[in-house]
Amino acid sequence: MKTVILDDAAAESKARETEASMTDDERFSLLYSLMIRIFGSGTRESRVPADLPAVAGYVPGVERLGIPPLVLADASLGLRHTGGPEDSATAFPAGLALGSTFNPALARRIGELIGQEARARGFNVALGGGINLVREVRNGRNFEYLSEDPWLTALMGAETVSGIQSQHVIALLKHLSLNASETDKFFLNAVIDPAAHRESDLLAFEIAIERSRPGAVMGAYNMINGSYASGNDAILNGVLKNAWEYKGWVMSDWKAVYSWDYILKGLDQQSGAQLDDEEWFSEPLKQAVADGRVPKERIADSVRRMLRSYYAVGIDNPPRAAAADMNAGNAMALEAARQGAVLLKNTGLLPLARDKSRIALIGGYGNAGVLSGDGSSQVMPPGGYAATIPMHSHPLLGPTTMRFFPGSPLEALRRSLPEASIEYDPGALIAEAVALARRSDVVVINAIRHEGERFDSADMSLPFGQDALIEAIAAVHSKVVVVLQTGNPVSMPWLNGVDAVLQAWYPGQAGAQAIADIVTGRANPSGRLPITFPVDVAQTPHPVLPGADVPLGTPINVEYDADVGYRWFARTGAKPLYAFGHGLSYTRFDYADFRLKGGETVTATFTVTNAGQQAGADVPQLYLTSRSGQKVLRLLGFERIELSPGESRTVTIEADPRLLAHYDSNAGSWRILEGDHRVALARSAEDHVVLATAHVPGRTFGR
Ligand code: GLC
Repeated sequence: MKTVILDDAAAESKARETEASMTDDERFSLLYSLMIRIFGSGTRESRVPADLPAVAGYVPGVERLGIPPLVLADASLGLRHTGGPEDSATAFPAGLALGSTFNPALARRIGELIGQEARARGFNVALGGGINLVREVRNGRNFEYLSEDPWLTALMGAETVSGIQSQHVIALLKHLSLNASETDKFFLNAVIDPAAHRESDLLAFEIAIERSRPGAVMGAYNMINGSYASGNDAILNGVLKNAWEYKGWVMSDWKAVYSWDYILKGLDQQSGAQLDDEEWFSEPLKQAVADGRVPKERIADSVRRMLRSYYAVGIDNPPRAAAADMNAGNAMALEAARQGAVLLKNTGLLPLARDKSRIALIGGYGNAGVLSGDGSSQVMPPGGYAATIPMHSHPLLGPTTMRFFPGSPLEALRRSLPEASIEYDPGALIAEAVALARRSDVVVINAIRHEGERFDSADMSLPFGQDALIEAIAAVHSKVVVVLQTGNPVSMPWLNGVDAVLQAWYPGQAGAQAIADIVTGRANPSGRLPITFPVDVAQTPHPVLPGADVPLGTPINVEYDADVGYRWFARTGAKPLYAFGHGLSYTRFDYADFRLKGGETVTATFTVTNAGQQAGADVPQLYLTSRSGQKVLRLLGFERIELSPGESRTVTIEADPRLLAHYDSNAGSWRILEGDHRVALARSAEDHVVLATAHVPGRTFGR
């Protein structure tokens, strides 16, 4: 049966028609989802049908009207369902790895695969699309997100959503809108000027929603300017539904609703309702409607919003689900890990020679597998976890666990360098590791850091004494490569003593192969940093981690502004360890014929040439560096292009006018100031190759 994908107008009118035929009880039944099991408990929720797969949420349908039930699964980095080892799915690399690819087409392809796997397992809502800006480099959840920059974040997030929804699975964007850290997040109030908010976190959501039309949006946990995000009238009604005219529905995060009156503040659905103090959107809301405190029309609007998305994405009568193609998933996981790894430093040691060298592989459970991030985005990879190691146990927040995906760096390296002699040492005893290093020609140190939802890192250092291990080895060896499997930037006190550093992030189920491919030159690294790497937290807006110095549960206010990441460094003048957009290649690229045109926005044209001996991909970037004489720094555009040796290609990039503008809260619109706009063609936020200026007339636009 061919799925009819209705355009928004048709979907809206069908939603209106269906909603009008519903009973009140049927309407209310859509306004909250149930978890299959309460976090950590073994008992299954009796109201969730027993034949359903392990779900994050369930909403009943209305069979007589052809309204399907909603079966929701987390899907940020692949489909998460907690049915057990046999319930595997493709485990893609971290969001920051995807962000490092600067490759929206890759994001879409991954979205398509996640959508196919979701459909094949009976899910029709994928709770992926985490696009929070990376503001705090210690945030345990950054590995799930994409970037510090609104434009890069929006493009990558939008393509992921579009890919998922192309498979008739509703996708969403989360966590609207500013949720920069995990510590004390249920009691943290993010304070930000509304205009600065529109130019940063909200700009990422605005552009991503515009480009992908997600069926739903999920609110965040913390407060923003005094109101909890999942019940924040200014953001949900004021910005999302009124200014942006968003037509989908707003669901809360799980355990993020504190009253039935959130329905009046823009929330349409309470998620995981059993987790909150009350199932607010069930009896208490029914009572509020009966008492006239909530107009019936508001309930009808929430239901219409949901149904509109059901029809627009086509979950009401999808085509037969094809079996998930796990080989395609693995191939895409490998490609994403290859493209997402960022070569930060290379004195020329990489790629390693394919000879009979004696290679020491040290640390990071490199003989077991590759690390993944902890929390609701974690996926059970095919074959189950290679190793699980208990970490924290918090009285309120529960346990955290390091989980390694199968496919070890050791096996992958041995496969890639069959003539070399490769010995592994766990790095547990520095003297033993140093002894191995001394009798080796090359040392590859595999460094890891456990990060995840519910907790932040106390600082930027590597755990388990790895910094001391690396320093001890670098002190006795002149050919040292460090491969980082972390969810965030780390401080590198040993940097001057090593020859190469590869940021592999949490590289996903094919990560070991990807690391070996880059280290041995089978793949030419092309990743570029989607976030700035500070030297240390003293360079960041909050040197003391917000909430770290008070007991959990203490209400705290944290000030934020629009200068996130490289914009903060441009404002302070501090030099980071590695800049946003930085990344090395085994070849080199030259830029020529840079031309800039003004008008409603700026349009740049330039030629890129692969001037080296090896095929590779470059990511030329455009930055606004000043407007009407005022210094600014904004990423205006980028393009990832693959070139053979000697090949040239001309690139044209037109900037979204909002990136040239500032948001005028009084006028409720964007404003471009007339004048000369200076634009750099660059290799990173700080490596500007050539500059040009164009005149842009002033104007106001948008809402
Ligand atoms: C979690 C997360 C959210 C996830 C949801 C369902 O706490 O904040 O990203 O989708 O609950 O697991």
